[in-house]
Amino acid sequence: MTAHTERWDSFPQLPWLHGQQPQQAVRFDEELGVWNVYGHQEAVEVLSDPHTFSSDVGRLLPIELDESLVEGDLTQLDPPVHRKLRRLVSHAFTPKIVADLEPRIAALTHELLDAVADRQRIELVADLAYPLPVVVIAELLGVPSSDRELFRKWAEEQLSGGSQLSVVDDQGEQQRRLEAQGASFTQIIDYLRGHAAERRRHPRQDLLTQLVQAEVDGERLTDNEVVNFANLLLAAGHITTTMLLGNTVLCLDANPQQAARVRADRALVPGAIEESLRLLTPFALTYRATTAEVELDGQRVPADQVLSVWLSAANRDGRQFADPDAFDPTRDPNPHLGFGRGIHFCLGAPLARLEGRIALNILLDRFPQLSTDPDNAPTFMPGTDMIGANSLPLLTR
Ligand code: HEM
Repeated sequence: MTAHTERWDSFPQLPWLHGQQPQQAVRFDEELGVWNVYGHQEAVEVLSDPHTFSSDVGRLLPIELDESLVEGDLTQLDPPVHRKLRRLVSHAFTPKIVADLEPRIAALTHELLDAVADRQRIELVADLAYPLPVVVIAELLGVPSSDRELFRKWAEEQLSGGSQLSVVDDQGEQQRRLEAQGASFTQIIDYLRGHAAERRRHPRQDLLTQLVQAEVDGERLTDNEVVNFANLLLAAGHITTTMLLGNTVLCLDANPQQAARVRADRALVPGAIEESLRLLTPFALTYRATTAEVELDGQRVPADQVLSVWLSAANRDGRQFADPDAFDPTRDPNPHLGFGRGIHFCLGAPLARLEGRIALNILLDRFPQLSTDPDNAPTFMPGTDMIGANSLPLLTR
């Protein structure tokens, strides 16, 4: 599906979104000093072997990381610490907790759409795709959802560094970017620390309370672990889902025949969401560091190298997916890497899928006509690490 990216000229920096497959599955970038992994099979190989491909990438970058911020951040940890922490947090973030959210997600979606019900134009991101997941994750954690504009600011500053990481000494450029993010980091950490301390004193029915109380084999999470994990949930738990909702609407808009099928047969909604994750992968890029010399795609990659794993490119690898640019809600199997693979597989995938399914169904029910507005183009995330719309104006008749 090149149609929507061509139409809006979005993400010119990601050629595979424009039908141009990378020529090699793995390629060293001299300028940045990192290995780009584009192929599906190669990405799976990397993500499935955390011993050779570590998530502790920071040690190789020309930056100084504050170690207290890494504690509890699952995405940067390797086994055995990762295993212990993931077990602990999985006790608090169970499939039942997610499944029980279904009525609340539906009620929230209706409430948000009630507010724009009689409009000829809506802006999908501001009206639904942003507030829905942020309110859900805030309520789940037990922090006031009225603070959502704060969370947005923090999440955007933390998630969207924009440009790809580099190991080349860039005269402090990455360090400066990190320090610029530092201020908002400290603010959110303090904010969450306050709420966590409050839950220790006065437990409630929320995830933050579960996290401060979670215990496996007599071990509990430290304060830093609780707060950094809550921060990860807050940041990872909403912007990506916002993008998933917008991207799915863009996929349907660019494929009217498939959209008509999905409207008529709602059993296709989950498949449409999976295809959206494959074609417009919100979390487009992740990183790993080699701990030993390894062969990848027939090339020798030394130890202590940074790999940029392009999930968004792997998801369009023609060796894995027939007709890789086509949006096909009936694609089966669909082994996309939109939620990653292996031990770091997205912990929030069941929640994101649930929110996507409920919101899309209600959106289709309530708006028999929905199309992008030729006079009012969507705007998109800058940079290379996130794929999605910042604003998505839609016509409702
Ligand atoms: C469409 C929405 C989402 C997408 C595309 C997405 C994508 C991803 C990806 C690709 C990873 C793996 C990163 C890696 O291996 O380096 C990941 C990990 C993670 N995600 Fe998500 N995510 C989404 C929604 C959520 C939600 C709703 C939550 C929480 C409520 C969440 C929490 C996490 C956590 C905690 C991890 C780290 C897991 C670990 O390292 O063990 N995500 N996500």
